[in-house]
Amino acid sequence: MKALTVIPLQAGTAELSDVAEPPESDGPILVETLAVGICGTDIEILSGEYGWAAPGKERLVLGHESLGRVLEAPAGGPFSAGDLVVGIVRRPDPVPCANCAVLEWDFCRNGQYTERGIKEHDGYLSERYRITPDFLVKVDPTLGILGVLLEPTSVVAKAWEEVERVGSRAHWAPETVLITGAGPIGLLAALLGVQRGLDVHVLDQMDTGVKPDLVRDLGATYHTGTVADACPKPDVVIECTGVPTLVFDSMTHIGPGGVVCLTGVSSGGHTINVDEGALNRSMVLENVAVVGSVNANRRHYEAAADALGKADRDWLARLVNRKVHIDNWHDALTRQPDDVKVIIQLTSK
Ligand code: BGC
Repeated sequence: MKALTVIPLQAGTAELSDVAEPPESDGPILVETLAVGICGTDIEILSGEYGWAAPGKERLVLGHESLGRVLEAPAGGPFSAGDLVVGIVRRPDPVPCANCAVLEWDFCRNGQYTERGIKEHDGYLSERYRITPDFLVKVDPTLGILGVLLEPTSVVAKAWEEVERVGSRAHWAPETVLITGAGPIGLLAALLGVQRGLDVHVLDQMDTGVKPDLVRDLGATYHTGTVADACPKPDVVIECTGVPTLVFDSMTHIGPGGVVCLTGVSSGGHTINVDEGALNRSMVLENVAVVGSVNANRRHYEAAADALGKADRDWLARLVNRKVHIDNWHDALTRQPDDVKVIIQLTSK
């Protein structure tokens, strides 16, 4: 069967490979992959900057933002043929650490977790895969192809859970949230903010293209410019760019008792001037919390499935702005100005 593979840490090695059918030992559920979303992590892997093949293998099958349809599942189990499903990305470490032992693999403490399509475990960008039911999540069938947004939504569902847990250390009645970055993660974080009834502000550098309208049509406010001008003293910031100045501006301008959640992964090697003393002073005197957030466990996938189920389908459809057949996979990886979420489709249905 076809699969999009790379040799990790070697740029320019992506190819459409012919790989073996998934072995039964991978799990009793056989899934036909319908589509896979492409994100910044895939681009990093393709550029040779990130990613690890499974032990003993040279190539890694890409793909962690998947949508599939069950072809075979054991009778009487939680899944049946025809179900629309998404595979969970991370697998607990084999030790397991205290967090993986209780299925909070997104908080793995020893780094020995694996991630499908990213770290030592083949991904979902193959025509079929096998899986066990504990790593599969059902998607509302009325979402159709938009179910491919479940994995990135799980990442923001976890970020929101962190914000709410940390915020609830004291009386917590947030009103305003600033989201930095209007890429797919920022837009989905904004969606979940609007669903919570908050006054949502989104900051991005683009003042043309589809992003301003996507934000406005959500009922949120779009800004270009600085963090301070976009939303003075918000209760929450969800930082979705990893751009160092935005990270530190978010920490400086958050409101008293506020929570900054960092979800963007910076590339490192950038040094900026920060008045650490002033930052420390305002963080301490105003009880500011800064929390990093990566990945998602099953609870977050389920929260994400609920959030997408409630979302306006036409708005979600505008996020998935380009659908490319796997045979033309090169096109999916060439960024175009109006791209929000590009997906690779594996079937023509
Ligand atoms: C994925 C996460 C993953 C992270 C780091 C992200 O793109 O969505 O599931 O944990 O990359 O590898």
